[in-house]
Formats: sequence, structure tokens, C-alpha cells
Amino acid sequence: MDLVRIGVLGLGTVGGGTVNVLNRNAEEITRRIGCTLKVTHASVKDLSRNRICDTAGIELTTDSFAIVNHKDVDVVVELIGGDTLAKELVITAINNGKHVVTANKALIALHGTEIFALAQEKGVMVLFEAAVAGGIPIIKAIREGLSANKIEWLAGIINGTGNFILTEMRDKGRDFADVLTEAQALGYAEADPTFDVEGIDAGHKLTILAAIAFGIPLQFEQLYHEGITQISQQDVQYAEELGYRIKHLGIARKTDQGIELRVHPALIPEKRLLANVDGVLNAVVVQGDAVGPTLYYGPGAGAEPTASAVVADIIDVVRNINADPQHLIPYLSFQTPALSADPILPINQIVVPYYLRITVADNLGVLADLTNILSSQGINIEALIQKEPYTEGTEVDVIIITSKALEEKLDHSIAQIENLDTVIGTVKRIRVETLG
Ligand code: HSE
Repeated sequence: MDLVRIGVLGLGTVGGGTVNVLNRNAEEITRRIGCTLKVTHASVKDLSRNRICDTAGIELTTDSFAIVNHKDVDVVVELIGGDTLAKELVITAINNGKHVVTANKALIALHGTEIFALAQEKGVMVLFEAAVAGGIPIIKAIREGLSANKIEWLAGIINGTGNFILTEMRDKGRDFADVLTEAQALGYAEADPTFDVEGIDAGHKLTILAAIAFGIPLQFEQLYHEGITQISQQDVQYAEELGYRIKHLGIARKTDQGIELRVHPALIPEKRLLANVDGVLNAVVVQGDAVGPTLYYGPGAGAEPTASAVVADIIDVVRNINADPQHLIPYLSFQTPALSADPILPINQIVVPYYLRITVADNLGVLADLTNILSSQGINIEALIQKEPYTEGTEVDVIIITSKALEEKLDHSIAQIENLDTVIGTVKRIRVETLG
């Protein structure tokens, strides 16, 4: 094959970046694969819109189905996002015998099992490196580079928008809403930004990483996710006083009881590398039994970083185009019949330390009541700060870091604490991840 013809669905930020990288690095890529890659077709929402890439020589259409059904397209690159139309297009492309490269995490997390089975049946490839952590080749690293290991856990900052917001809140004392607007303008945020701030986008990515790391099916519906919308300036500052940073983490951990699969804000000791990953950058720590901890760091979003992963996948497709499709690297790294049925643990079965912020009336004996409730559940206090009253004799914040505790026990303690007459409002709880 001298020429591989590519049809791009969606010529927005990532689509435009993909065309630019393919054009700029055409010579280098041909040196790597021995043939020419050419974007021959692309679909767009609006033909008259200005683009970030040169569209000369590309047949533009508003009809994505015309591309997935086109006889002269070899590889379909799906960059429109979402899991409805994108799914229909990808299924059609596979049924038409076309290889697919996608950056669509929702599509893979929710429908990967069905898509991979169809691809296997039709003898085509579906690659999705850009779906997780943008330009960081984390899927390749886990699926190939770490394949000798039993993966014990992984933890990552896998949503750039959320990390950008938390970084700005900490560094500049900015408000949540104000920073979100900026992230949207910069093109990092999802079409529906609640996906970023409520942990859904990170949840899609974590679902994929956990499946590849542990050889379990994709099961987004079992994932626990909690967003960052309730993180206040006070929490950011109290965490700092205690030697921690607040990050929005995706964590997958294999335990004797099952698999933890959770996305939520977490306090991380400030010395940890992950605590120092700022702005739109992503990072994932993967702990393998043989290799120990490994860290993958880089841009998790943006036109060319994501295009870097998309183009690498196109290159992989071309390199394997003549290989026996039944003997390619398995999509989820493990042979499909060997996927394990380990249960995903409910969130109340995890065991971690906690940060608690409790606003109390400044009365005699309040602190003793709090500590008694925690100790009655066997929960030890590792650190405690009592702030000065907002105004004399009124309310004070008590901040506690507990030792590791079963979340179910902590839930009971919080319910009891919130029932105290001296406690004002609800208890703020943030999990602590020591990442040791
Ligand atoms: N909205 C995503 C993020 C884009 O902020 O990380 C990349 O998946």
C-alpha cells in the first residue's frame, strides 16, 4: 500500500490539529512507515467556518456517513465525540471494513466491548490512545510496556480542565466559576463542562485504564465519581496548612476484596509528584509488582498533543495493516476470554484516611464530642486544627485528618457528628491519598 487514505470525522480542535501534524510531519512519518498518509475526506458541522488547518486537497462534507461509507477511505478517524452519532458512525465504518482511530473516551468506556467484538469479527483495528490523557501514551505504556507486571494500582490526574481550575484556585485564589469559563475559552473543556467538573470525563478515562491494567471488562456503570464543585477556597487553604494539595484523582486499585474504581477530589501530600502537576497537564502513576511505581506526565488535552496520539494510532494501524487481525495486541491487553470477574467495590468499602472540615459552635466540650464519636468507630485522629472563631464566640472550623478507616464507619461517624446540636451545617469530607 503506497497511499493510506484517511477520513476525519470532525475538523474542530483535535481534527484540525491532526491535519496539521500529518501535513507538517509527512516526510518523517513516511520515513517511519514506508508509505504516504493523506487526509482525503473530512466532515464538518459548518462548511463556511474558519479552520485551524489547511483544508486544500480535502473533500469537505457535512455528512459524516458519506465518509464512513466511502469506498476510497481506508481509515476513519472519529473526532466528533459523544456516544450516540459517533457510535453509529464507528459501527458503520467497521461494518464497511474500515479501520478506526478515535479520541472518544465516552464511546470506548460505554460501548467498547461491543465495538471491539465487531472489529474482531470484521478483521479491522480500533485504536483509542487519544481517549485517555491526550498526548501521554498511557494506553500503550500499560498495554505493552508494563505487560510483564501485575498492576497493583494506578492513580492519575486525567482531566485537564479540573486540574486547571484547582491550580488557579490554589495559586491565585480565583473562583471556581471564573476559571471554568476560561478553560472553556481555551478549548480544554468538554462540550458539556459538567463532564469535566463532576468527574464523568475522568470516569470514562479511568474505566478504560482499569480495564487495561487489571484485565477486567469496561464497566463505567460501576464507577464512583464525585466532582470538584464543592471544593472551597477554605479547603484549598486548610489542605495547604496541613501539607497537602487537593487534586481531582482517578484511582483504580486491586484489593483482596475487589477493585476500587473511583474519581473524586483527594488531598495528596505536597511532596508527591502528582501534587505538583499543575494547570491543564495530566499525570498517571502506575504501580506494577515488578517495576514499582512509574509516572507518565504531559499534556492531557489540546489540539496537537491529542493529535500526537491520534496520528500515532494511525501509524500503528498502517504498520499492522497486513498482520493477522486475530493476533494483534488485545484491545484490553488481556485475551477476551481471560477477562476477570473481580467485583468493583462500593465506595463505602474503601479504606483511606480522610480530611474533615466541621463547623461548630464555639462551646465547651465540642472537640471532646467529635473525638469521642470518631474513637467509638475505631477512627484515630492523625492531625487536628481548630481555627479561630469567624467572630468572637460564634462559629469555628475544626479540621481533622483521620487515620485510615473503612468509609462505611466514617459515614456513621459523620451522621452522628452532624446530629450534634453544636455542629453547624454538614461535615465536609475529602479523601486523602498518600500514594505510597
Ligand atoms: N475535557 C478534557 C480535559 C479534554 O479537560 O481533560 C481531554 O480529554
